[in-house]
This record gives sequence, C-alpha cells and structure tokens, in this order.
Amino acid sequence: MKEIKQTKKYIIPPLGFGTWKLNGNICKESVERAIKYGYRHIDTADVYENHKEVGAAIRKSEIKRKDIFLTTKVWRDDLSKKNVINSGKRFIEELQTNYIDLLLIHWPNDSIQIEDTLDGFMQLKADGIINFIGVSNFTINHLKKVIETKIPITTNQVEFHPSLYQKKLLDFCSKNNIILTAYCPIAQGEDLLIPEVQNIAKKYNKLPSQIILNWIINKGIIAIPRSSNPHHIKENLESLELNLSPKDFDIIDNIGGNNRIVNPPFSEFNY
Ligand SMILES: NC(=O)c1ccc[n+]([C@@H]2O[C@H](COP(=O)([O-])OP(=O)(O)OC[C@H]3O[C@@H](n4cnc5c(N)ncnc54)[C@H](OP(=O)(O)O)[C@@H]3O)[C@@H](O)[C@H]2O)c1
Repeated sequence: MKEIKQTKKYIIPPLGFGTWKLNGNICKESVERAIKYGYRHIDTADVYENHKEVGAAIRKSEIKRKDIFLTTKVWRDDLSKKNVINSGKRFIEELQTNYIDLLLIHWPNDSIQIEDTLDGFMQLKADGIINFIGVSNFTINHLKKVIETKIPITTNQVEFHPSLYQKKLLDFCSKNNIILTAYCPIAQGEDLLIPEVQNIAKKYNKLPSQIILNWIINKGIIAIPRSSNPHHIKENLESLELNLSPKDFDIIDNIGGNNRIVNPPFSEFNY
C-alpha cells in the first residue's frame, strides 16, 4: 500500500477503514475482515460505541499492534483538559491497547478554549497514551487558532468527496503541513451515481467507488471508507491499483456541488 510519511519513522496508510454505524458483531467481523484483506488503518470514535469491538478485532488479527494505525476521537462535550485526559485513559482500556496512534478532536466547540483542550492532548502524548494529535470538522479559521498555539497537528478529518470538493481547505492544510483525511469519501454511496464518475469507471473497467477513492488518495489525502459488505471492503482496497489520467482527474475536480451530508446542529462550518 502507498504510504504517507508523518515523521521520518512514522507512516500512515492512506486507505483506512471507517467504522461509524458498525456495532456489535458486525463491527468486529468487518474490522477483522478489513485487516485480513490488508487494511492497516482503522478509524473509530468514542461516540461510535464500538471501541471494544474494534480493539477485539485488532487483537484477534495476527498483525502486530505497531503495524496498525489506530485513530479515535474525543467528543465535543469532553474537550476540557481534565476530560480529554480521562477520555484518553478510558479509550486505551476499551480498545485493549497501550496507545492510540492518533487522537482527534471530533468536532470544534467554541465554548471550550482550544488551548485547554490541546494541553490535555499534550499531556496524553507525554504519557505515551497517544502518538499524534489531530482535529476533525475544523474550518480554516479553527485551524488558524490551532496554528497559533504552535502545537503541531497531523490531520484535519473532514467530509470530502467529488460532490463536496473542499479545495480551499485542502490547499490551506497542504500549506500548513496538515494532512487532510476524507470522511464519507463516497458520500455514503451518493457520489457513485455521478455520470462523470460512472463514465470514467467504464473507461478503466473499474467501479465508481474505486475511481473516487483513487482520486482522493492521489491528492495526498487519506480516505476512510466504511463497509460491512465483504465485496465492498475488498473493492475499496483495490482502488489503490489504478492510474487515472490527469484529464480524468480534472473531470472529477470540476464536478462541483456543495453536497454536505454530515451537518449536525452544533457544527461550526460558518465560523
Ligand atoms: N469525523 C467525523 O465527524 C466523521 C463523520 C462521518 C464519518 N466519519 C468516518 O468516516 C468513515 C466513512 O464515512 P461514512 O461511513 O459516513 O460514509 P462512506 O464511507 O462514504 O459510505 C459508507 C456507505 O457506503 C457503502 N459502501 C462502501 N463501499 C462501497 C462500495 N465499494 N460500493 C458500494 N457501496 C459502498 C456502505 O455500505 P456497505 O456496508 O453495504 O458496503 C455504506 O452504506 C466513517 O465510517 C467514520 O469512520 C467521520
């Protein structure tokens, strides 16, 4: 699998496995299957209520813990320094692991000082509970506040797919050495129906899902599609084995739209 270097020693597999809405046995079996097929990057969150199943699947696999990149997220109500520290400690218990590779602020919360939150993250890092710090659903203005703290963040995980091509945010992240991670990379299935994507898929004899994931990953973005369907899990991984022409990249770049799927009432996208 192609890799994204975070530090000289640390690499993040660009195709991860999303686990939102996967619970109980379906979650455990799907994560086990994903690891068996070759995924080495798993994305979860406290609010997905599946830490136990994700942790059990990783433990059951024959892959060494150090060879799996594990991301989880602290919910927006738990962003005080104290709650961040307590959350990190609880998460490693639930995930049955000694450390988390990447811990994210799941959503910004303007009622809690970012400095206080990041202090908690730095403490978890100093204690060896997490390796990297990241954010999710942050706008450029949120990111500017983080950059002012001088605390380096690894990624901003945001909704990103052909019908929500967030180019300005991507360019800002690239300039500031922040990797973008694309959630809902296939727009929960909606973008598979875009005629331009379908035409390109036919041309390469590939699936629309594979065209979209390849378009994302070749931009240096991490994609974390979720599936509980064994065929889809495998197909998504195979999206890496494809070379789209620059012209086809352009066609997808120009699809346009502002099709935001995840927009809860507490979001701060207008900040
Ligand atoms: N940070 C955040 O706030 C945030 C928000 C949303 C999501 N996320 C993360 O991002 C991950 C991905 O986003 P998502 O789960 O919302 O959406 P997604 O990955 O864009 O789409 C998932 C849906 O697409 C289907 N699917 C997957 N692969 C397919 C394929 N090859 N062909 C046809 N259908 C396919 C799945 O059904 P089947 O199971 O039938 O394959 C499922 O219904 C989440 O699981 C989560 O880890 C983070």
